[in-house]
Amino acid sequence: MSDAGVLAGRRIAVAGAGGGLGPTVVRALADAGAWVAAADRSDEQLEVVRDVAGDARAADLVTAEGADAWASVLGEVDGLVHLVGGWRGGNPIEDTPWEDVELLESLLWRSVVHTTRAFAPLLKAAGAHGRFALVSSSVAARPVAGNGAYAATKAAAEAWTLTLGAELAETGGTANVVVVQAITTPRMRAENPDKEYKTFTDVDEIASALVFLCSDAARKMNGQRLSLHAAAR
Ligand SMILES: NC(=O)c1ccc[n+]([C@@H]2O[C@H](COP(=O)([O-])OP(=O)(O)OC[C@H]3O[C@@H](n4cnc5c(N)ncnc54)[C@H](OP(=O)(O)O)[C@@H]3O)[C@@H](O)[C@H]2O)c1
Repeated sequence: MSDAGVLAGRRIAVAGAGGGLGPTVVRALADAGAWVAAADRSDEQLEVVRDVAGDARAADLVTAEGADAWASVLGEVDGLVHLVGGWRGGNPIEDTPWEDVELLESLLWRSVVHTTRAFAPLLKAAGAHGRFALVSSSVAARPVAGNGAYAATKAAAEAWTLTLGAELAETGGTANVVVVQAITTPRMRAENPDKEYKTFTDVDEIASALVFLCSDAARKMNGQRLSLHAAAR
């Protein structure tokens, strides 16, 4: 079934729109009819989405000031898709550098808290159209060795998202989590055409899920963790 028009008339903000996943998500939302506002750390990172986004602006989304300024310049918004990311890991707990903990706490937790605090009033005002979606990692629910800071900050972001879902339920909106293990981009596939990427999820599949979550078809889906990854064998 085509997604064309399922988001007609919706205004959707994408946080971290210029990263690995962002450009595909911005295009999919726009193809589904949404007016898309894109934000990332710098203007250069937004070049890839400038042709399709209705608004593209640099914002430091790990700060309250950056998130508040972005929300207030947009005014009305139906949906917020959170894609700000980053990774540090590979060390056992006793050797985890504090800088890694602080960086992931900032990228994966503060960015969620600040953007949702800034946008929650707009999402509540959007009534039954109000949507929030977070892209998270399978390690939040099933931690693996050497990934403690990443797993813990994603788990905190998931709990915060499900809390927002409980609050949006009062106005008919939703907040959900899309869970993957790792993401494949077209560039990764081009560089390694023979690699199977068995437990990875393609950017197109994640973008389709996010379009669905923002649409009316997902109005009954709230506070859910939607797993889009194959089990590791
Ligand atoms: N990639 C994976 O395999 C994977 C697996 C599981 C879950 N996820 C999650 O899926 C989401 C999307 O992944 P991704 O690979 O597209 O993420 P990403 O490229 O690491 O980050 C997305 C964008 O957010 C930007 N960003 C960083 N700090 C920011 C700030 N202070 N203000 C505004 N923007 C900022 C990044 O800029 P910089 O590049 O300059 O930092 C990047 O352009 C993330 O939440 C990630 O945690 C990813």
